[in-house]
Amino acid sequence: MSIQPSVSPAELAAEALSAITAAENLEALDSLRVDYLGKNGKVTTLLKSLGAIPADQRKEAGQVINTAKIQVEEAIANRHAALQAAALERQLQTEALDMTLPVRPEAKGTLHPVPQVIEEITQIFGQLGFHVAEGPDIEDDFHNFEALNFPQGHPAREMHDTFYLVGGQVLRTHTSPVQIRAMKNSPLPLRCIAPGNTYRCDSDQTHTPMFHQVEGLVIDKNITMGHLKGTIIHFLQAFFGVDDLPVRFRPSFFPFTEPSAEVDIGCSREGGKISIGAGKDWLEIMGCGMVHPNVLKNCGIDPNEWNGFAFGMGVERLAMLKYGIPDLRTFFDSDLRWLGHYGFTPLGGE
Ligand code: DAH
Repeated sequence: MSIQPSVSPAELAAEALSAITAAENLEALDSLRVDYLGKNGKVTTLLKSLGAIPADQRKEAGQVINTAKIQVEEAIANRHAALQAAALERQLQTEALDMTLPVRPEAKGTLHPVPQVIEEITQIFGQLGFHVAEGPDIEDDFHNFEALNFPQGHPAREMHDTFYLVGGQVLRTHTSPVQIRAMKNSPLPLRCIAPGNTYRCDSDQTHTPMFHQVEGLVIDKNITMGHLKGTIIHFLQAFFGVDDLPVRFRPSFFPFTEPSAEVDIGCSREGGKISIGAGKDWLEIMGCGMVHPNVLKNCGIDPNEWNGFAFGMGVERLAMLKYGIPDLRTFFDSDLRWLGHYGFTPLGGE
């Protein structure tokens, strides 16, 4: 007696397929796999029943059951892949990080006007081929005075209100000693600027014990005062952003330059307010001159072969004039409200 299954393989496959499609998660799908394809599963049971089928019908019946089995296996594999993809998608959604969020809601720090102005000066001279040179804040007498043609007892030494350190060293009173270091240490020709801290024992409304200067130096062959004037006029017009800024050179004295000059820029003081540009008045802005032959000799340079010019300016003074900052002492108060007002956005903004 042959046992006829209660459902045909095709019906069983159809029933399995709709259950598989409806399976909502991997666990439900796995229990369907056991139901149909497991050791005692419905499809497996059908296959086992083949032995009871008469030999002449067995091959055909076997093929029908196998087709059903393959359909169920494929449906399970497809549903498995779909459920896994959906699970991964859900995980990606819930674990996503928004990388576009800024680190801080708003930048709080600002750049102090001193480094800002040093950067502006460096940019302008950089375009003219000047590199930045450096020297120490603590100097010896030779670099700060002697080599710059201030002999011992020279009255110009008195003008500097020097801070002397135990042992005879000084806090540099100007950035000019960097000239000496540059001339001794770099190959010629030479074009450099030296921004940095300077110190004088002086404190009142217009002087602070520490302040900043930028020194400039060019050493080459056949340099003239024309080169000096052209360079400084270009710099001042670029720095203040005034193309027709009047610039005047007045004879002056510095031990390390001959001839020496002080540079004035045009301004107006109408209504008690200084504005830079053409006007009735002049404002002293920097010192300059042709490098004194003694200075070249002190650095081992032959003044018959090489010559050049130098200049020096105060950074705070330039910053006050360009950005309308009225009081020098506020530069060193570290007042965050002041920095919020006069500070600059780092990385180039203003
Ligand atoms: N060292 C001078 C000072 O501190 C500034 C200066 C003037 C520098 C003329 C120079 C220069 O190189 O040529 O007052």
